[in-house]
Amino acid sequence: MEDTLPYHAHPLKSFIQQLPKAELHLHIEGTLEPELIFELAKRNQIALDYPSVDALRAAYEFTDLQSFLDLYYAGAQVLVTESDFYSMTMAYFKRIHADGVVHTEIMFDPQTHTSRGISIETVFAGIAGACRDARIQLGISSYLILSFLRHLSEAEAFATLEAALPLRNKYSDLWIAIGLDSAENGNPPEKFARVYARCKELEFRLVAHAGEEGPAQYVRGALDILQVERIDHGVRSEEDPELVKRLIDEKIALTVCPLSNLKLRVVDDLGTHNLARLLRQDMRITLNSDDPSYFGGYLLDNYLASAHALNLSKDELVTLARNSIEASFLSPTEQAPLLSRLEQASTN
Ligand code: ADE
Ligand code: ZN
Repeated sequence: MEDTLPYHAHPLKSFIQQLPKAELHLHIEGTLEPELIFELAKRNQIALDYPSVDALRAAYEFTDLQSFLDLYYAGAQVLVTESDFYSMTMAYFKRIHADGVVHTEIMFDPQTHTSRGISIETVFAGIAGACRDARIQLGISSYLILSFLRHLSEAEAFATLEAALPLRNKYSDLWIAIGLDSAENGNPPEKFARVYARCKELEFRLVAHAGEEGPAQYVRGALDILQVERIDHGVRSEEDPELVKRLIDEKIALTVCPLSNLKLRVVDDLGTHNLARLLRQDMRITLNSDDPSYFGGYLLDNYLASAHALNLSKDELVTLARNSIEASFLSPTEQAPLLSRLEQASTN
């Protein structure tokens, strides 16, 4: 994104940057920048629908979730080898290091790749290799959230789980959670009730997208039927006041993605986004980038754009960062040093 946007000159930019933050809602396939798409397409001799990097970037004008998903799945077709998955993931870590991200919980969509004949081992090996190197080289820890595509059937989700389970031991330091993403409307949580029940039995941590384009009822379904611990997006929860009260009382985190909501027209204007209103009611709101290459900004951009549009105070920005650490799947012992670093940084 150009540095000419008004929020790039935000007076709290360096303050926000130095706060230790976790990113809890990030699709690794959504970090593929057009330049890397072109490089990988050339490497793998794959034809693209756009003549140039600029033409591809110019196509990133979306009218809704599906118009984005069409480009996102097309972009992911350039990923073939373990090294491609590694390059994509390491590029993300290098980019967010400067944003002050200390921990990330990364979603990946195996079905987008296995449906093209890429083995699930290749997908895991490339992404996990970069996660392990980033921990050592950059000090960024991570977990992986294997996500099912909700426009496909539950039987296909089960088949993906079965294919992935033999790899669980090899990647037990990273793969600890299950998610649900892709086209929301018409694909309600109950469609995946049995596979989520199985994942719970297997002691995976559970999250799901709900209440992005879909109704508040899908958020209730994600909590009651899928038994998730966090809601990805969840911004439409506000349409159901009893649900809002429940989310606050039960301290359920929403992983909100402001620039994504703007680009996909979930909101018309960041200045009217409900994240500030919900935060001020003590809901556990976190800020995240979703698919940063497609939506015009990484984690710091999401904090800055929100701070600018919604007049967030220093205290509120610290609360958002604290929420991100507390709502992560890190153990209390692992959270403790990050939280004390945050308290220290909040006095700067
Ligand atoms: N997959 C990648 N980004 C997504 C989003 N914002 N909603 C649903 N599925 C997605
Ligand atoms: Zn998402």
